[in-house]
Amino acid sequence: MKSIMSFTDISVEDFYPLLSRAEKLKALIKSDKCPDVLNGKVVGLLFEKPSTRTRTSFETAAFRLGADPLYMAGAELQLSRGEPIKDTARVLGGYLDAIVARVYSHDTVLQLSRHSGLPTINGLSDLEHPTQLVSDMLTIMEVKGRIEGLNVSYIGDGNNVANSLLLACATGGANATIACPKGYEPNASILANAKRIGSKTGSKIRILNDPHEAAHHADVLYTDVWVSMGQESETRKKMKVFKGYQINGELIRAAKKDVSVMHCLPAHRGLEITEEALEGKHSIAWQQAENKVYGAAAILEMSMNNNSRKRK
Ligand code: CP
Ligand code: NVA
Repeated sequence: MKSIMSFTDISVEDFYPLLSRAEKLKALIKSDKCPDVLNGKVVGLLFEKPSTRTRTSFETAAFRLGADPLYMAGAELQLSRGEPIKDTARVLGGYLDAIVARVYSHDTVLQLSRHSGLPTINGLSDLEHPTQLVSDMLTIMEVKGRIEGLNVSYIGDGNNVANSLLLACATGGANATIACPKGYEPNASILANAKRIGSKTGSKIRILNDPHEAAHHADVLYTDVWVSMGQESETRKKMKVFKGYQINGELIRAAKKDVSVMHCLPAHRGLEITEEALEGKHSIAWQQAENKVYGAAAILEMSMNNNSRKRK
């Protein structure tokens, strides 16, 4: 049993085998030969926030592997009427074989894991989005043929996706540069952790304020929304502060000739990315979105492999 609450739960030793397994599962799923290794298992999806890709990719991956996914909207649970998360977790621990959770506070996913005793997968919290980066790394591997030594530059908010991107690049041996406005840097302890992991893998980590400096020599340009879920009250301020932190034609021309453009989606065309950049020949955002199914399949298989409870 293995929980993935942070990208640090994927060790340097586990990183490439997990990506290889995702690649293999992709081929098996596409040729309709996916083994039902999770037959009889139930995967609960507890989502406090909206989701198109993470929810659907984990549900699809569960079906492909023979498990039954069970979606639970936070607003429809007694959680919304004040039942403590630890009580909810204890009860779900008696029903399910694993939980995928999308939560406001990272502490909620930690409590779910602690009190349910189940493999718990963070499907996005305010601090991290680790499963996104598993499928993103798979996508980079497919497109570039390697991860080690690549320059991955993220332009925008030092948010949950940026935090997991730092850890993923450090773990895989890619150099990570974040260009963000002052005051919007990634989480300080995650940054320190990424640098510590990077010192072993050869990955260099930089935090800058200038998107053009970050784009210089970039193999990958990555962005995410300026306003994350739960930050809606900051919208007006962030619209001003983030002006210029956009992937557009000019930034693409500042990067390597064969730069790949990534966005975890949903995208806001005209804000963090232009239509031209998202739909242009450098964009791999749609392959990136599809790969969420195969990343989810590899994660579910790895997390639930040794959990022997069966429905029958
Ligand atoms: N990229 C991502 O997590 O998308 P959703 O919010 O649609 O799940
Ligand atoms: N940073 C974004 C990612 C959405 C997939 C958010 O948390 O809303």
